[in-house]
Amino acid sequence: MTAPLVLAIESACYETGVAIVEDGRRIHANVVASQVALHAPTGGIVPEVAARAHLRWILPVLDEAWATAGAGWDDVAAIAVTEGPGLAGSLLVGINVAKTLAWVRRKPLVAVNHLEGHVYAAWLLDPGVAPEEGPRFPAVALIVSGGHTFLAEMRDHLTYRLLGETVDDAAGEAFDKVGRLLGLGYPGGPAIQQAAEGAIRHDVAFPRAWLGESFDFSFSGLKTAARRVVAAARADEGIADQPEAGLSAPMTAELAWGFQDSVVDVLVTKAIRAARELGAASIVLGGGVAANGPLRARLGAEAVELGIPLVVPRPGLCTDNGAMIGAAGWRRFQAGERAALDLEARPSYPLAAR
Ligand code: KG4
Ligand code: ZN
Repeated sequence: MTAPLVLAIESACYETGVAIVEDGRRIHANVVASQVALHAPTGGIVPEVAARAHLRWILPVLDEAWATAGAGWDDVAAIAVTEGPGLAGSLLVGINVAKTLAWVRRKPLVAVNHLEGHVYAAWLLDPGVAPEEGPRFPAVALIVSGGHTFLAEMRDHLTYRLLGETVDDAAGEAFDKVGRLLGLGYPGGPAIQQAAEGAIRHDVAFPRAWLGESFDFSFSGLKTAARRVVAAARADEGIADQPEAGLSAPMTAELAWGFQDSVVDVLVTKAIRAARELGAASIVLGGGVAANGPLRARLGAEAVELGIPLVVPRPGLCTDNGAMIGAAGWRRFQAGERAALDLEARPSYPLAAR
């Protein structure tokens, strides 16, 4: 093999990821050490705990990725790393390892925006699957994660026009907060989806924040409504004064469904309207919340009605991983971008402007 590989490192939040990706698409190795279990007892991420876990795991993860790919340094064209946005202490670990490898091996270093990684996950191909065309332009990209809710127009590779973003909480953050309110543990997203599958009644109405004609999103009102609805349900079930007691399973399921339906409704409606108005040739969905089954199913169905494909990675490539950074890093590398060895972390790093 002659040098179409990117070695990619991701450590923005709480997944330590190292991947080896060919031509920005084909995954040769993609190893992720998840810290989810580590953060479950605190019900959220403690930044110092996350940074220390990255430090603990990054070289074992690199070692495993390297062994899986069976690559040699001559095959590696560049090293890509997440520059931001994310938690400073977490980012520093990945950036420091990437810079050191780039220096020792005299390889070019490419800095990647984490959100761009989530976008480019849509171009990834798992080992062994048949090649297929990537998303067509113009595309509408919806990235929904624990930290971001981002809707953009892409007329070509690496170019974005911001259509809308959250004015308060990110979609994933809302899932995590409401998951905690419902006593479902952390992270809330997968737990709410699972609980909602057991819903028998589907009639608790949660509000939708449309914000008029804007493509922006707001989820904090929904969180407040959820707090009110949960308190009312606890009173109904006679446990208002028993903080340790949980709601019954049917009630939990019904509330989880109502909340999820509200988030999905707003995300899908705005993404579809954007695609229609802009004459998009495809819709790209990514970020941790894109692992959500009902979101994928409904956005997929409405895209088909519009006559365009929804391109969404398998759930394991929607949540944070190194391969997505390798996919975006390869595009940036091909475009001639190089990062200097004095690269710093950018905890807040907008991908696009309006
Ligand atoms: O992209 P990601 O792994 O990390 C960030 O960059 O934030 O996203 C994590 C978020 C969490 O808020 C988690 O609750 C949410 O993605 N999530 C889900 C699902 N799986 C993960 N939300 C809804 N449904 C899911 N199945
Ligand atoms: Zn992410």
